[in-house]
Amino acid sequence: MHTSAQERIVRPAKNVYGSLRLPGDKSISHRYGMLAAFAEGTSRFSNFSTGADCASTLACMEALGASVRRREDCVVEVTGVGGRVTPSGAPLDCGNSGSTMRMISGLLAPQAGSFTLIGDESLSRRPMGRIQKPLEAMGARLTLTDGHAPLYLDGGPLTAIDYTTPVPSAQVKTCVLLAGLQTAGATTVREAVRTRDHSELALRAFGAKLTRSADSVSISGPQALHAIEAAVPGDISSAAFFLCAAALFPGSGLVLDALGLNPTRATLLDVLTALGARVSVLNIEEKNAELVGTVQVSAPAEGLGSTTIGGALAAQLIDELPVLAAIGPYTSGGIRIRDARELRVKESDRIALVVKNLRAMGAEVEEFEDGLDVPGGQKLHGAVIDSGGDHRIAMAFSVAALRAEGETLIQGAESAAISFPEFFNLLDLVAER
Ligand code: S3P
Repeated sequence: MHTSAQERIVRPAKNVYGSLRLPGDKSISHRYGMLAAFAEGTSRFSNFSTGADCASTLACMEALGASVRRREDCVVEVTGVGGRVTPSGAPLDCGNSGSTMRMISGLLAPQAGSFTLIGDESLSRRPMGRIQKPLEAMGARLTLTDGHAPLYLDGGPLTAIDYTTPVPSAQVKTCVLLAGLQTAGATTVREAVRTRDHSELALRAFGAKLTRSADSVSISGPQALHAIEAAVPGDISSAAFFLCAAALFPGSGLVLDALGLNPTRATLLDVLTALGARVSVLNIEEKNAELVGTVQVSAPAEGLGSTTIGGALAAQLIDELPVLAAIGPYTSGGIRIRDARELRVKESDRIALVVKNLRAMGAEVEEFEDGLDVPGGQKLHGAVIDSGGDHRIAMAFSVAALRAEGETLIQGAESAAISFPEFFNLLDLVAER
């Protein structure tokens, strides 16, 4: 079915049908891995993310003295350093992962020693000034080149701050909280839009105390963390590709079990409902304060309607916007996205690449600095897709390809493994041809 390790052909489908259980959430796995490696004792995680990004986090934490064991039963066992890392002589390689670089910097800033953090070409283009500012306000020293990695960090005791994030970012919030965890006094992060709160929930699960208000979170340090055992909920941002695919085919039916349903992440379900899809959520449970449940989705007989995404919704759906834009042509009224300028500084410029690839498939689309307008009622044809080495672009256009006429070639398809190595195999399982 595939042409080379880097390319994949995706054929149109007649329907999407089946039942899946998805690998663990990337955001939660990063946090569990990082906190476990910093905590006292041995933590155990089932359904830990299989993506390369979370492997980057674990490898960095191993280089800092933690030990990681991947057991035969797929449980990941992490023995932590008990609050004191060993500075590694070699650079810490964060790979493609912005979460790794931004969050580990916060963890390391209060630690004695010098650290160098590097990343791949894409990560080395992404803005790191957004963590330099608060960490330097706390007293750490960071050196960047034009605001980018490599990142040189001189750590040591810090001063607590009260910081308002200029752009909504859970990674920046987490960075400051992890520094605050180890800093005397109360460190507060304020945000205009509430971003995903996995760090707050994970810190509490590992035994830390935090206080939260509607728009802020505070942590008083120093506090110690203790090992936990946890099952990581299925990744809803990975599920997004399957949920959107199922929403395209009248007669479809998809059931996703043990899926993470944290309210700061589950906005996609509301958007699909607004588009006319039938979405139901069953068997909701709470695990380490994270909601987990079963999601069933099927497409409306009359097809999807239309929607506009902007303001706080754009920030909450940031990882799902590429796939929503990619299915826009198949709706009746189109999809408008605004206030999503952050998409331009993700693993790629996701606005530019979505526009380029929709046009390659024959779609009409209008590009804006902070979003795009995708008119509905369009027919697409198969094309060569430039993923730009960006996992979410590769997967989003594999979904668009299911309803196109003719085959689509996804270049850089191997990038799916950054968050979701199983993606193409699972797509073949549920896409009926
Ligand atoms: C993430 C936060 C988001 C998201 C990324 C993962 C996290 O980035 O795009 O995929 O795990 O905190 P920002 O916080 O920079 O918006």
